[in-house]
Amino acid sequence: MSAARDDRITVPRFVAAKGAGRKLSVLTAYDFPTASILDDAGVDALLVGDTLGMVVQGKSTTLPVTLDQMIYHGEMVARAAKRSLVIVDLPFLSYQVSPQQAVENAGRVLKETLAPCVKLEGGVGQAGTIAALTTADIPVVAHVGLKPQSVHMLGGMNKVQRDRKRLLEDAHAATEAGAFAIVLELIPMDIAAEITAALPIPTIGIGAGPHCDGQVLVTPDMLGVTTGFSPRFLKRYANLHDVIRNAAAEYVKEVREGTFPTEQHGHP
Ligand code: KIV
Repeated sequence: MSAARDDRITVPRFVAAKGAGRKLSVLTAYDFPTASILDDAGVDALLVGDTLGMVVQGKSTTLPVTLDQMIYHGEMVARAAKRSLVIVDLPFLSYQVSPQQAVENAGRVLKETLAPCVKLEGGVGQAGTIAALTTADIPVVAHVGLKPQSVHMLGGMNKVQRDRKRLLEDAHAATEAGAFAIVLELIPMDIAAEITAALPIPTIGIGAGPHCDGQVLVTPDMLGVTTGFSPRFLKRYANLHDVIRNAAAEYVKEVREGTFPTEQHGHP
C-alpha cells in the first residue's frame, strides 16, 4: 500500500479552508496530462465537469454526456492528481430519477475513478438525494444558481439567476442535506456574498463575483483554447488557441518545404 501524500487536499481540508480564511482555487480537468500540470501548479481542486460535453466533445449543451464518459475522464484525472481534490460531476439523468439511482451511480464514480467526491446540480429539489449520498458516505458538492443541466427549462445558459429567495433556499437546503461545498454559478455578487457569509461550507463561484470562498473556471476557457465565448466573468490567462495554431502552421510549413525532419532527426 502506498502512503497518501500528507499535503493532499481531502474533503475535510477543503472545508477547513473556509474557517482558515484561505481562498480555494478550482479548475476543470478532463485528461491526465492537463490534470498533472494543474495539480503541479497548486490548484486546490480539479473538477471533472460535465462541461466535457461542450469543451471536449464540441456539443452545444452538457446534456448528452454519459456516466461512462464521466468515469472514463474522472479516472484519468484522479490518477494524475497528487495533491488536488478531484470532484466528478454526475451527468444529466444519472441522479435525478431517484436517490437510489444517485447512490448507485455516484458509488460507481467513487469505485471506478477513485475520486473522493461528486457534484450534482440542485438545492431544494435535490436535498433528498444529497442526504442519501452523504448517508452512503459519498461526499457531495452542490451546484446552484445557473444550472446548465436545466438549459431547456431556463431557455438558455447565460442568464444571470436573480431570485434571491430561491437562491438562499437552495443554498441552505443543500447545506442542511449534507453538501460539503457549493458552486454558485452566474448569480449577482451581493447575493453570493450573503450566501457565503451565511453558510458554514465553502462557496465556489463562477460568475458570482469576488466574495465567494473560492473560484472555479473552465480550463479551456481560461487558457484561451476555446474562442468566441467571452462572458463578463471569464478572465483569460493565456491564448493557447493561437499558440497551438501557430505551432501547427509552422509544422505544416516545414514539412511541406522539407525543412523538417532533417538528418539531425533521423537515426544513423
Ligand atoms: O461542468 C462544469 O465544468 C461545471 C463548472 C462550470 C462549475 O459545473
